Amino acid sequence: MKAITALVAVIVLFAIAYMAGPSAKFVFGVAIPYAALAIFIGGIIYRVAFKWGKAPVPFAIATTCGQQKSHPWIKHSSIENPSTTGGVIVRMALEVLTFRSLFRNTRMSVKDGPRVTYDGEWLLWAAAMAFHWSFLIIVLRHMRFFTEPVPFFVPLLQTVDGFFEIGVPALYLTGAGLLAAVGVLFLRRLLDPHVRYISLAADYFPLFLIMGIAITGILMRHFMKTDIVGVKEMATGLATFQPVVPDGIAPIFFAHMFLVCVLLAYFPFSKLTHMAGVFMSPTRNLRCNSREVRHINPWNHPVRVHTYAEYEDEFRDKMKACDLPVDKQESDEPDKGKAKAKGADKKKKDDDD
Ligand code: HEM
Repeated sequence: MKAITALVAVIVLFAIAYMAGPSAKFVFGVAIPYAALAIFIGGIIYRVAFKWGKAPVPFAIATTCGQQKSHPWIKHSSIENPSTTGGVIVRMALEVLTFRSLFRNTRMSVKDGPRVTYDGEWLLWAAAMAFHWSFLIIVLRHMRFFTEPVPFFVPLLQTVDGFFEIGVPALYLTGAGLLAAVGVLFLRRLLDPHVRYISLAADYFPLFLIMGIAITGILMRHFMKTDIVGVKEMATGLATFQPVVPDGIAPIFFAHMFLVCVLLAYFPFSKLTHMAGVFMSPTRNLRCNSREVRHINPWNHPVRVHTYAEYEDEFRDKMKACDLPVDKQESDEPDKGKAKAKGADKKKKDDDD
């Protein structure tokens, strides 16, 4: 039901733009894209700078699986548990570029026997990698619409991406890869009872939205042509703040663009902000040097304590009276010891007399 709600929402969004786009082209081609971009930038700044950035992190939280730097004869795991900023950068880069922690994610299951086993979730990792890398490459390739001259790497990416020259125009591997990967992520949510149980409409919605963007994009490239020159004119106009929306742009383009705008505006308020959140994660962005440096909570207020030594001083007589062990004998105490010795000397003198 939750998946159906999300699917219906995306279909309605598509239908609105497909039908209304060509007649309200300034709204769909200029006003909504600018508004969506403003919400995206403002929303990300708000979440990162005003919410997460203000969360106190007084200690280095070393929840890692590698050996922390300590004595020279104990082998230190410099990437897993970095004590230097360089190590932190390497760990973060591996996390962001290769989803290292997801790769090591395990899943417990009970097999025949009964036997408890822990398997890696390789399919999830592979689908996540294919999805995110395809998305990035598609966005970089789309720069050909927004820039003039087109940056040098864009034609390069297009050549590599269309290398197999399947169809005319060539099918981009990342376009098909994005759709396939989102499909796998959706099916996993749907078919795995554990994941389905915890899935909300907010988990399905971005999947359907991205599927919608990929499908409308592929339709536009291969089946339902639009005026690409007009699209480029419009996109460069948006990028240079001289907006124009030429005639001849097909409804499917407005639908594609509108779904992208919805994604942008929805992004900062959804779980998709993990894109920015990963850089704010204390277990990833802090040096693990708690054995080298004593981290003192900066807002600690002075706390009155009553140490055991003080307690024993206060109650030693009573503790001894009921045979409780004490750490310090009275004779250990310089003053009392002296007083006792003085008393013993006096008694001896009296006896002698
Ligand atoms: C989240 C951002 C976006 C994603 C994920 C996306 C995805 C896609 C995909 C998968 C395709 C199929 C062809 C290919 O693989 O390149 C495509 C095509 C297309 N997209 Fe996007 N798109 C995005 C943003 C935009 C924007 C902002 C525009 C506005 C200029 C746009 C305009 C187009 C056009 C005109 C095509 C057809 C390309 C052609 O005929 O070669 N897309 N898009």
